[in-house]
Amino acid sequence: MPVAIDDTQKALQNCITKTNLTRWPDPYRGKVREVYTLNKNTLGLVVTDRISAFDHIMKQAIPYKGQILNQLAAFSFGKVDDIVNTHIIDMPHPNVTIAKKCEPVPIEVVIRACLTGHAWRVYKSGKRELCGVTLPDGMRENERFPEPILTPATKAKEGHDEDISEKEILERDIVAENTWQEIKVKAFKIFNRGQQVANQQGLILVDTKYEFGLYDGKVTLIDEVHTADSSRYFYADEYDERLANNEPQKQLSKEFLREWLMDHNFQGLEGQTLPDLPDEFRLKVYRRYAELFEQLTGNLFEPVPTPDFDNTLADIFQRYS
Ligand SMILES: Nc1ncnc2c1ncn2[C@@H]1O[C@H](COP(=O)(O)OP(=O)(O)OP(=O)(O)O)[C@@H](O)[C@H]1O
Ligand SMILES: [Mg+2]
Repeated sequence: MPVAIDDTQKALQNCITKTNLTRWPDPYRGKVREVYTLNKNTLGLVVTDRISAFDHIMKQAIPYKGQILNQLAAFSFGKVDDIVNTHIIDMPHPNVTIAKKCEPVPIEVVIRACLTGHAWRVYKSGKRELCGVTLPDGMRENERFPEPILTPATKAKEGHDEDISEKEILERDIVAENTWQEIKVKAFKIFNRGQQVANQQGLILVDTKYEFGLYDGKVTLIDEVHTADSSRYFYADEYDERLANNEPQKQLSKEFLREWLMDHNFQGLEGQTLPDLPDEFRLKVYRRYAELFEQLTGNLFEPVPTPDFDNTLADIFQRYS
């Protein structure tokens, strides 16, 4: 069980939703992270408590989500750094990663072990091909593929990311062929390791998204890895029975939020209004994220309050710039 938050009202009010530093006025603000360039080789990545789904940032943040995510990423980067160079330099604070500033490869490298989420929606519509990969007939939702499959997407500057086949990635010269081959081989190895780590803890790594970059010309794993935002996990012990009975799997990821939003008539489509997340639900999401952290790492998640966060951040960045 996650450590109870001492003062839930305070935690709900004091989420890290945005950072403002006078010396570094203009970070890149992603949906979840704020990316500060500290010098030509170094980034300061601040993982905020913002949460997004269907490409929209929710109006309310989740207490301590940033700390959970950042520390889950650090844990998982540590599990794969014998396979691939990673961008990690240091984690000087639970919300902050100091990383190598890479030239991003503009592809989301998605690997799937099961027919879930987007892949299932495509399959259900009758298609038997996804990103150039042929899918076997007669599969049910959440069933394992014979082997994990690679279903990349373009990293769109605006709007939705789009599925793309390997063939098209090369034809459109988005990535050099030798770089792509290296990324592909590494991605499967990283996924395999992620599955081993999950299995040891009673979980199934269902699917995930990797981002790679080049640092000094070397293929490097960037962004985040095997976190609740970038991956789906199921509980292993209930998997077979639920699959056999056509029951939904217990989700330990953002899918939980997506389901809640769909129940509240929101799927990110035009004309739909983003619902407010009630406090009770925000705490529930916190507990889900903490549960995944604890299940996967075997460690207790201990929330660290962050009063005066901007000043703490400025001190940290000063040291690394
Ligand atoms: N080591 C790194 N070098 C360069 N860029 C990085 C590195 N690590 C992460 N990034 C980039 O930093 C951003 C992280 O922010 P976040 O994940 O919140 O953004 P996002 O909403 O997914 O935005 P985007 O649409 O740009 O991916 C991403 O654009 C990611 O590609
Ligand atoms: Mg991202």
